[in-house]
Amino acid sequence: MRGVLVLGIETSCDDTGVGLVADGRIVVNRVASQTLLHAEYGGVVPELASREHTQVLDRLVTAALDEAGAAAGDLDLIAATRGPGLVGPLLVGLGYAKGLAWSLGKPFLGVHHLEGHVHGALAGAPQLEPPFLVLVASGGHTHLYHVPRWGRYELLGATRDDAAGEAFDKVARLLGLGYPGGPEIERLAAEGDPQAVPFTVPMRGRQGYDFSFSGLKTAALRFKDEGYAPADIAASFQRVAVASLAGTLERAARDTGVRRVVVAGGVAANRALRTALTATDLEVHLPPPGLTSDNGAMIALAAAHRWSREGRPDPLTLSAEPYWPLGEAA
Ligand code: KG4
Ligand code: ZN
Repeated sequence: MRGVLVLGIETSCDDTGVGLVADGRIVVNRVASQTLLHAEYGGVVPELASREHTQVLDRLVTAALDEAGAAAGDLDLIAATRGPGLVGPLLVGLGYAKGLAWSLGKPFLGVHHLEGHVHGALAGAPQLEPPFLVLVASGGHTHLYHVPRWGRYELLGATRDDAAGEAFDKVARLLGLGYPGGPEIERLAAEGDPQAVPFTVPMRGRQGYDFSFSGLKTAALRFKDEGYAPADIAASFQRVAVASLAGTLERAARDTGVRRVVVAGGVAANRALRTALTATDLEVHLPPPGLTSDNGAMIALAAAHRWSREGRPDPLTLSAEPYWPLGEAA
């Protein structure tokens, strides 16, 4: 007997993710990246993304079940990302999951993408309980929440302009690096001097817990024109971006008295950020490698958790929610 077997599908953007979770543990996590497909356009083309998800999703699910030695009929719960994200891509995964659930007569759950990231980050710490703070930093989001209990997300702060990952992507682009920019900046930063370029930490000294990253992109462009070396720009930009994220998190922890923090989303892969957070006296939980960026296992984990708490399926009429604040997910 294998216990509760959950299929999680993630198609909110340009990665097709399929994950299988049995009894709260990841069994399979397959991601088909579309990065190359969109590379020549300099960003994700929604229509192309939808078409590609449609083409690979069924094959990916079959391959995942094969890898787990399971049949579709063994699934106990089928989940997909409901939002936020690109509406076309969301509809592909959501429609597929509903159809499968309906044909198998199994329960279906629509999962909030950010709640998926949170549970992905907790994959290495399944015993962890609220209260905790969550920082989600990805290509589309920079949000800081207080989680007093499961399923409840109180927004403490968010970016006022670009997301943290978006800033890495944009600075990478203006330095002539590839996409996604985070890993590229990180690589180039290793060869540069983080103190060489006079970036200032955005929002420092302000009240509240909001972030702002678009000024760093403008500053990077100016420093490039002034002749600073790309490696020094990368290293110095990374220093202030990390200082902003880690500093705000530390301050929120101090003010709320909640010292347990979870960092999720693609930017959580950044080693400078991981090092800075580990150096604080916070209890920091970071996603295991492979679970920082979008994937299906995180959606399955979030669904399994909600299922164990509530045991109530979502209706098959559930709509996709391209704009969906996490605070309203509960
Ligand atoms: O969570 P994710 O895979 O997709 C979204 O939901 O956005 O995050 C992708 C973002 C990209 O902006 C990428 O540049 C950034 O995460 N990222 C990083 C690193 N790896 C990925 N940013 C900084 N350092 C990294 N090592
Ligand atoms: Zn994401």
